[in-house]
Amino acid sequence: MKSHAIHVCRECGTTSPRWAGRCAGCGEWNTLDEERTPSKPRTTAALATTSLRESNDENQAVISSGVGELDRVLGGGFVAGSTMLLFGEPGVGKSTLALMSLRALALSKQPVLLIAAEESAAQVAQRARRFGDVPGGLDVAVTTDVDAAERLVRERHPTLCVVDSISAMSDESLASVTGSVPQIRHAAERLCAAAKDSGTALILVGHVTKDGELAGPRTLEHLVDTVVRIEGDRHATLRFVRAMKHRFGPTGEVGLLEMVSAGLRDLPDAALTLRGPQLDVPGVVFSVTNDGSRSLLVEMQALVASSSGSPRRVAHQVSSQRLSLLLAVLEARCAVDTSASDVFAATAGGLPANEPGVDVALALAVASAAMNFAVPRSVAAMGEVGLAGELRAVSGLTRRVREAHRLGATAVIVPASGELDDVPGVLVHRCASLVEAIGIAQNGTK
Ligand code: TYD
Ligand code: MG
Repeated sequence: MKSHAIHVCRECGTTSPRWAGRCAGCGEWNTLDEERTPSKPRTTAALATTSLRESNDENQAVISSGVGELDRVLGGGFVAGSTMLLFGEPGVGKSTLALMSLRALALSKQPVLLIAAEESAAQVAQRARRFGDVPGGLDVAVTTDVDAAERLVRERHPTLCVVDSISAMSDESLASVTGSVPQIRHAAERLCAAAKDSGTALILVGHVTKDGELAGPRTLEHLVDTVVRIEGDRHATLRFVRAMKHRFGPTGEVGLLEMVSAGLRDLPDAALTLRGPQLDVPGVVFSVTNDGSRSLLVEMQALVASSSGSPRRVAHQVSSQRLSLLLAVLEARCAVDTSASDVFAATAGGLPANEPGVDVALALAVASAAMNFAVPRSVAAMGEVGLAGELRAVSGLTRRVREAHRLGATAVIVPASGELDDVPGVLVHRCASLVEAIGIAQNGTK
């Protein structure tokens, strides 16, 4: 192919068709470098068009990840030739999840490859043995060299390849240090291209820093097809998996997993709260939170204790701003004064509940703790609390009430307004205000 040269100033980027001693753009001397670009043949034929009705993407091969909850998030599984960034805080279970998927595919006789850049083969093998039998085809290459990794992908074209982690990969010919943005980007670009050419589903594992930012790997977001986040309280066993970006399907679906001694286990919704003491105690109120297409039963807990010194507000898995607002509303509108007390609020089991639909339940949990009455476990409360102390409608109320009933609730406290289909077996208490809801929770649910 014919090519022609252009000259580009390395200071200001001005281009010139001929070499010159001095740049016409910035006036600097000896800054023009020659760049060769292939000359494009002039297009004479009209560009072809595609009828949208005829066009389909359905020939894209989807491969089950072998982890039900991950498949759910991905809308079926991995897409051949695509790249997924899997990120989360250290210790949350990224390596575990990736290895489980490799194992599942290896068990079904598919070629898989793990590029281990941070652990030895022995360490990986030890982890794999926790899941059970280690299948024969589960191959690991221990390297941090992008060249070597890329060559392996191109030679073997595995169905699934995991790079753990992308931050540890480097190309010695680049001047920048391992883990720097240029190194990570360069490594990711090359591995993505190799995966695409090989029809390999590629998982790049990325670390996030403490504040939850995807430091270096963040710059990979637009380079990859899918971004999946795994999160959860490290001291609890519950893990959430979410797609933040997904070129091949919807985002917003949540996957629930449980970290057990033999890896991550799919968690059926019902398992969430049917644990713990089956007692009615002050400070515990159930609610249902909607997350993606899922409705999750959540146990809101509050503790109100007399304070020594300046009163503390501690919120776990619930928004501390939301808690402050609810405490103010309780004090101003409901005569529940906690201004001189320590208030602790949390959800049981580490399930995050950050949407307004759980407001009433949290406010009732605080009120029941402060006033020392128990709300029966057979009652669930759903609704947003406004500044005037009113209960406001929430989305998907019927879905929430059905889920509460499925898991044992026989009565619900809900806002006075908002659509709700009849759910047989559930006594519905419509409340206009938080004061009214407290009254019902205290006496009226029997
Ligand atoms: P890991 O996957 O190494 O986390 P990451 O790659 O995100 O840093 O797993 C972290 C924790 O999970 C570790 O503290 C041990 C625990 N774990 C289990 O409980 N069960 C298991 O089967 C495995 C492999 C790990
Ligand atoms: Mg790891």
